[in-house]
Amino acid sequence: MILTLSMCESRTIWWDDGLWLIDQTRLPVELRPIKIESVKNLIEAITSLRVRGAPALGAAGAYGIALAARLSFTDNSFQLLQELEMAGEIIKKSRPTAVNLSWGVDRALRSVVVQDTAEGIREAALREAELIADEDIAINKSLGRRGALLLDDGDSVLTHCNAGRLACVGWGTALGVIRSAVDAGKEIHVYACETRPLNQGSRLTAWELVHEGIEVTLICESASGSLMRKGRIDKAIVGADRITKDAVFNKIGTYNHAVLAKAHKLPFYVAAPLSTFDLGHCEADITIEERGSEELCSVGGVQLAPTGVDTYNPAFDATPLNLVTALITEKGIFRPPLMPSV
Ligand code: MRU
Repeated sequence: MILTLSMCESRTIWWDDGLWLIDQTRLPVELRPIKIESVKNLIEAITSLRVRGAPALGAAGAYGIALAARLSFTDNSFQLLQELEMAGEIIKKSRPTAVNLSWGVDRALRSVVVQDTAEGIREAALREAELIADEDIAINKSLGRRGALLLDDGDSVLTHCNAGRLACVGWGTALGVIRSAVDAGKEIHVYACETRPLNQGSRLTAWELVHEGIEVTLICESASGSLMRKGRIDKAIVGADRITKDAVFNKIGTYNHAVLAKAHKLPFYVAAPLSTFDLGHCEADITIEERGSEELCSVGGVQLAPTGVDTYNPAFDATPLNLVTALITEKGIFRPPLMPSV
């Protein structure tokens, strides 16, 4: 199937007689949907970042339960519920840091426990997953509108990783705020950090913005400090994978930008839906996913480091809330230590 960009106007993950998603590992070269045929297949897609970004993972988790329900052969509702619980546990473990994945799985599971037939369970799981997907777009547009008020006409805004349409079902969180500001008639220039090692910034954020005609300059993340010092960045805005009562977890490198923003007296904003908040936990409770050395040691089959070198490849870092100017949510803007009630 050849896809056009208008596909992205709708959804990055959807149900059409089965579960479909855009394979993000192929971008920016190719916009290709893949059909997910099994829970095992979904877990591979999650761990290899074919589907990624906290809100998109929330929808993927819920659709995973709907898929497990559809693929089960049992007509025994009790047995089906047990199978779904087991599928949910495996899906949740596939990426531990983004809380939305567990949130989506748990929401789908909660929707099925009240059903007393296998058919009712199958229908309820899919209904809930579709609802999560619909809500995601509405929520991102709502937080986008609120966050856009924090951006001024002519601002240059730094962002890290991809918190755009691709990281969500649609619209985006950090990029959603930028999109909403542009829609409101403001001229915004984005500095997109390439985001090593998997380059979500250059492959995905730059791709989204270039195709939408939003002005973007690609930089390597280590350029952010000198750009701030030169006065070429007005604000920074990122998404989040989890917000605990004391920290924002987001793509590795986020903390560096937050420290630099503080040093240069620039606002550092985090845009995230309430489903990303995990206020029952603090930073010390959270597992940061560590990924394989191959992501650092090679790119596209080209070796970048000596064979056997020791590596450390955390996918995320934690930024203490005292470095965050404001949290942008669908329920409003919260300036830490003020937090939303979730
Ligand atoms: O490893 P990834 O690509 O899933 O990491 C994604 C991020 O860190 C995003 O910034 C975050 O999920 C916010 S998405 C709206």
